[in-house]
Amino acid sequence: MRLSVIGCGYLGAVHAAAMASIGHEVVGIDLDPRKIDALSRGEAPFFEPGLPEILTEGVESGRLSFTTDIAAAEGAAVHFVGVGTPQQQDGHAADMSHVNAAFESLLPHVRPGDIVAGKSTVPVGTAAVLAPLVEAVGATLAWNPEFLREGWAVQDTIDPDRLVAGVPATADGERAAAVLREVYHPAVAKGTPFMITDYATAELVKVAANAFLATKISFINAMAEIAEVTGADVTQLADAIGHDVRIGRRFLGAGIGFGGGCLPKDIRAFAARAEELGRGESVNFLREVDAINLRRRDRAVQLVIDALGGRVFGKKVAVLGAAFKPFSDDVRDSPALDVAVRLNGLGANVVVTDPQAIDNARRLHPQLTYEPSRDESIRDADAVVMVTEWDEYRRDLTPEHASSLTAGRVVVDGRNGFDAAAWRAAGWSYFGMGRP
Ligand code: UGA
Repeated sequence: MRLSVIGCGYLGAVHAAAMASIGHEVVGIDLDPRKIDALSRGEAPFFEPGLPEILTEGVESGRLSFTTDIAAAEGAAVHFVGVGTPQQQDGHAADMSHVNAAFESLLPHVRPGDIVAGKSTVPVGTAAVLAPLVEAVGATLAWNPEFLREGWAVQDTIDPDRLVAGVPATADGERAAAVLREVYHPAVAKGTPFMITDYATAELVKVAANAFLATKISFINAMAEIAEVTGADVTQLADAIGHDVRIGRRFLGAGIGFGGGCLPKDIRAFAARAEELGRGESVNFLREVDAINLRRRDRAVQLVIDALGGRVFGKKVAVLGAAFKPFSDDVRDSPALDVAVRLNGLGANVVVTDPQAIDNARRLHPQLTYEPSRDESIRDADAVVMVTEWDEYRRDLTPEHASSLTAGRVVVDGRNGFDAAAWRAAGWSYFGMGRP
């Protein structure tokens, strides 16, 4: 099928390349010429495992192209809109200006019978407002949320655990759902659940999923806070409750909490939208989820201060990690970088390392010192602070090796990723999050 993808950020670039890799003819469209130039050369504008390979393959096969010209959408049977919905500058609600602009520029190029499929994460009620504009040009709007995780985005797009399409309860809506089934044919053929819903449900599925995941993380971080005043170990607690299949161990990783371009802004936008709908109290707990999450960053900073005897001024602190999570170079709302910035603000001599995110981190916080080499970053350090659980740190950095480089023997494990007993046995003072 011929497809267009409007917006070539995380979501759009991966979607375009993934759709080409399963056999569609795809044009990706974005306003940013630098992004388009890179993508046209088969280069990913951000770090995402597996993306460069399918980009190159798609571009070389001729099935995948990129342009800044919105008119190139003409002739596609389905137009995916995957532009960003960041948090507003002066509030918690979603900034819808990119979505509105994308629809405005796209619609003159949409033909009768086409499907416009919204993929952006939007406040519930958005599709109902946009649908008449799409219908006015004889096309049908579907809302088709995306659940990809950074670091696993290619796999999540080609082989998702579920597909959701919100469509109107009309013959056109039925046809739109059938066309989307065809778009996602490999996943549909292997029996991936494909749920057809109304617009509001499809929009809510997306924010509800992220709200649930954020709540799960903040739940275990709240338990970490209680563990800290009782001497309990939150990692054992998580293992024990996680054995209950109704609870499950995933997303019970206590530490410095969640960040990134999705979870934080999505729960805030959800709370703001619920407020507008007169149902603020229904999701008031999300404000608590947010507050617990942000407190963990304070806790990590305090742990470093305590571990260094009450003062970090002038101490060399190696911060392992800047990305909001491993397998990503994304530093948007990164708790790791936030901890580094605060320690630096307290006068510590902070050296940040990360296998992928240094360029992005430097752009945002040029005042920090960056060191690409893990070993150089910890050389002569008074404390080692691990805040993004890359394998290079969590799995590969042994206390014996660290001891051969650092000045001090203090390790603060912001992700509870190190083997505490091994570090202590090697003579280190180990400080975890929610652990004795
Ligand atoms: C999240 C969702 O997981 C995706 O399903 C969704 O599609 C995506 O947002 C989106 O809305 O686009 P992502 O932002 O890539 O994906 O990151 P996650 O893997 O969810 O991790 C989010 C944050 O939670 C990271 O900072 C991670 O370190 C933290 N986390 C995760 C924990 O602190 N503890 C855990 O146990 C798990």
